Amino acid sequence: MAIGVGLLGLGTVGAGVAAILMGPEGRHPLVGELALQRIAVRDLERPRSLNLDPQLLTTSPEAVIDDPAVEIVVEVMGGLEPARSLILRAIAAGKPVVTANKAVIARYGEEIAAAAAERGVYVLIEAAVGGGIPIIEPLKQSLGGNRIQRVSGIINGTTNYILSRMADEGAAYGDVLADAQRLGYAEADPAADVEGHDAADKIAILAGLAYGGPVAREAIATEGIDRLQARDVAYAAQLGYVVKLLAVAQREGEAEPLPLDVRVHPTLLPKHHPLAGVHGVNNAILVEGDPVGRVMFYGPGAGAGPTASAVVADILNIAGIRKVTGSQAGAPLDPLLAASSWRRCELVDGSATSHRNYVRLQTRDEAGVIGRIGTCFGEAGVSIQSIVQFEARDAEAGGGAEIVVITHEVRESAFRSALAAIDALEEVRTVAACLRTL
Ligand SMILES: NC(=O)c1ccc[n+]([C@@H]2O[C@H](COP(=O)([O-])OP(=O)(O)OC[C@H]3O[C@@H](n4cnc5c(N)ncnc54)[C@H](OP(=O)(O)O)[C@@H]3O)[C@@H](O)[C@H]2O)c1
Repeated sequence: MAIGVGLLGLGTVGAGVAAILMGPEGRHPLVGELALQRIAVRDLERPRSLNLDPQLLTTSPEAVIDDPAVEIVVEVMGGLEPARSLILRAIAAGKPVVTANKAVIARYGEEIAAAAAERGVYVLIEAAVGGGIPIIEPLKQSLGGNRIQRVSGIINGTTNYILSRMADEGAAYGDVLADAQRLGYAEADPAADVEGHDAADKIAILAGLAYGGPVAREAIATEGIDRLQARDVAYAAQLGYVVKLLAVAQREGEAEPLPLDVRVHPTLLPKHHPLAGVHGVNNAILVEGDPVGRVMFYGPGAGAGPTASAVVADILNIAGIRKVTGSQAGAPLDPLLAASSWRRCELVDGSATSHRNYVRLQTRDEAGVIGRIGTCFGEAGVSIQSIVQFEARDAEAGGGAEIVVITHEVRESAFRSALAAIDALEEVRTVAACLRTL
């Protein structure tokens, strides 16, 4: 007997899902047992590329959830509300949910997971991070025996596209962004991507799964690429690095609650680092665990086909369980697939963490400056890996010298006090850029 699927949304992702369900040939036979029953859209008049029975469409998402023929609800409409309330409504109705909505899961994941556990239904989210890359199931199941040390990734395709072009062409951020918008790689309002919020949503989700407990989304230190300058990308390249918007979740000890350093910021990666070769709109996630070591997941991070691939995998997971057990809502859930929390996590204060840093200083072009900068770092206990003066006589550099320093790994508080001392030096015009370095 067919398993009824209801879609909330028929946009980029929803249409991709419908296309797979309408063309089961050559795929796993379970795909052929899924039947699209109802689809909610905002505008019934909008032309649709799929050859769908218009009777399937409704403007009422509630009608989709409440339809007795709909057994699995797929939320691909986006936004916080009404998406959150609709997911909760489906759970309350005892219907499992598949969603691609990272914004909702990053903010309301705990509430949704609690409701789902109580009602005994699955809420699966493979498409919420990394588009077509399988990363959620691997973290929940395939890597379940590991103690995860670090999850780091390039998980926003728009910013990676912009950074790749800045590096390849030496182009300015604003020019590449405008081009990306023209080409459809960036939204008309790019804030969620370029300010790092989308990546922060995703790393919150990955951290929660990797470490077994929810992470406070609003506490994640987030810096985007919107203030990044082409000259820093160029200097980084000359020093053997590429700049990427990195999202990182790192274990900082073994206490209870588990201390985690979770953050999003532009980062200099050595050119030989596995994430340095991820270009354009692709995504990649590097998981470091004990005992597995380093595992990297790479692929298309967005788009109709890749994201629908992930959504359909979740639908199949639920359909497969239903087929074998015939289980209805309320039956015990598989704790790995349900990703039940099993401990508490706590974000650490950033000033207590240690990192390598890149600093660009604009200074007067005179003898002794490098020595005085070195002294400030030394007095704060910050050891320097390299200090380089660049020829920079253009107006942007203020007509003086530009000095780039890369530090060894140092405590953030010590680094900040060194910077304050350097900023106060008479010869230093400004601390023009400050980026993390791996
Ligand atoms: N696009 C991607 O590559 C991608 C990748 C990973 C995850 N996601 C996530 O997937 C979700 C969907 O993204 P998308 O790009 O497919 O969005 P989209 O193209 O904007 O489509 C949204 C769909 O939802 C419908 N909709 C929106 N509000 C509604 C409402 N109140 N009632 C009924 N229908 C409503 C729209 O109807 P109309 O068609 O009538 O406007 C449209 O069909 C988002 O959470 C997004 O973050 C997207």
